[in-house]
Amino acid sequence: MIKKRSFIIFIISIVFMSALFIINQQRMKGQASTQVPKQLLTAADPELWVISDNHFYADELFEDSEKFRQFEATSVGKDIRYTSQVLTAFVKKALKEKPDGIVLTGDTTLNGEKQSLEQMTEIFKPLKAAGIPVFAIPGNHDIYNGWARKFTNQQQITTHQISPGDFRLAFSDGYNLSHSEDKHSLSYAVDLENYRLLFLDSNIYADRFSKIEPITSGEFKEKTLEWIESSLKEAKVLKKTPILFMHHNLLAHNEKVTKGFVLNNATRVLSLVKQYEVPLAVTGHIHLQNIMQSRDNPNFYEITSSSFSTAGNQIGHLQLLNNQMKYEVEAFDPREYFDSLALENPYLKEYPSYLEEKYRQVGKDLATNILVQSDIENAEKLADMVGEANLRYFTGNNQLTEAEKDQIRNDPNYAMLKKSVPRLWQSIEHSIEDTNIPNNRSITIDLP
Ligand SMILES: [Fe+2]
Repeated sequence: MIKKRSFIIFIISIVFMSALFIINQQRMKGQASTQVPKQLLTAADPELWVISDNHFYADELFEDSEKFRQFEATSVGKDIRYTSQVLTAFVKKALKEKPDGIVLTGDTTLNGEKQSLEQMTEIFKPLKAAGIPVFAIPGNHDIYNGWARKFTNQQQITTHQISPGDFRLAFSDGYNLSHSEDKHSLSYAVDLENYRLLFLDSNIYADRFSKIEPITSGEFKEKTLEWIESSLKEAKVLKKTPILFMHHNLLAHNEKVTKGFVLNNATRVLSLVKQYEVPLAVTGHIHLQNIMQSRDNPNFYEITSSSFSTAGNQIGHLQLLNNQMKYEVEAFDPREYFDSLALENPYLKEYPSYLEEKYRQVGKDLATNILVQSDIENAEKLADMVGEANLRYFTGNNQLTEAEKDQIRNDPNYAMLKKSVPRLWQSIEHSIEDTNIPNNRSITIDLP
């Protein structure tokens, strides 16, 4: 009898302990889930903010030395000095205006420095508390990049690189909200009410610490392509509109800049795009603000974003409505969010013009190098013209009125460039006329 009673007590204790364990597990799961903002998943008409190629560079990685200034001069119009001030301003703006989510389409760090990732994660922290998830995918500069550098004591030294695990952990929001992850890359998929967002890792990187430069080109592994296809197939069954977010481009936005920029196996992806009726891809890498409609498949559009750390500090606003998608890019002026100390810095005080001048200079330097070889008169004026064109083109401000176009085309320097340096003349043409989608700053795409 006693034995029987002890046995019953033993069973009751086991059941009680198990129940306690399950309740505790559920409570922990609940706690974990509150750390991941889930509002977006059920939001009606969600708005995502897209920034690309922000190339964040941690404050502690550089000093104002000659070595750093030489390195800075090779940044092709990017600001790499004030990325923390500008990203902090961006976060303040997001906390005020509350988008449903933020998307980073790669090259989140300058050259894959672990310290840059750590500081960026700190800056993004208030977003989590405010329920704004960050969806990031790596770019070709982010993972195991042999160029990861620190400037100290007038020297340039190597610094810790970002591993795939570091990236996944730093940008855990997206992975935690995803219903499926690719086992062969850092790709994942997130379902909204009417949409399936595919965040795709299109980069080629080593599987350990690297001593070489990052690989510019990108491609999906065979297994990743299989995962993408099965996700698109499922989206079709679930009647969810798929959108691709990735670093490399699927379409050639500039015929001269395709190698390394258009994905190596873009043709394979574009056939999936057609088969599964994907209406939109949002990409980066080329640092160009551009909207393009596929010539082979007019139902497919690709938006490439300019680099967030170049002129305009541009933010793409992507609204996902029931029957259409609306996109509009905004030139963000971070000065509204700078503190008084930052505004004492003359460069930050005039930040938008400081960045614009950087882009003009890139165009001018390129033109000057070519014009010097051609021994042309009036080289300085011609270089200025190319500098202005460079700024218009990369920021997507290349939809001009007929009067503005005439003014440029009637300039004697325009005729001179056309006759003597067709290559530079073409860059002017690209900056005043886009024969694909002329408006590179906004679009509304109706869904079938
Ligand atoms: Fe980039």
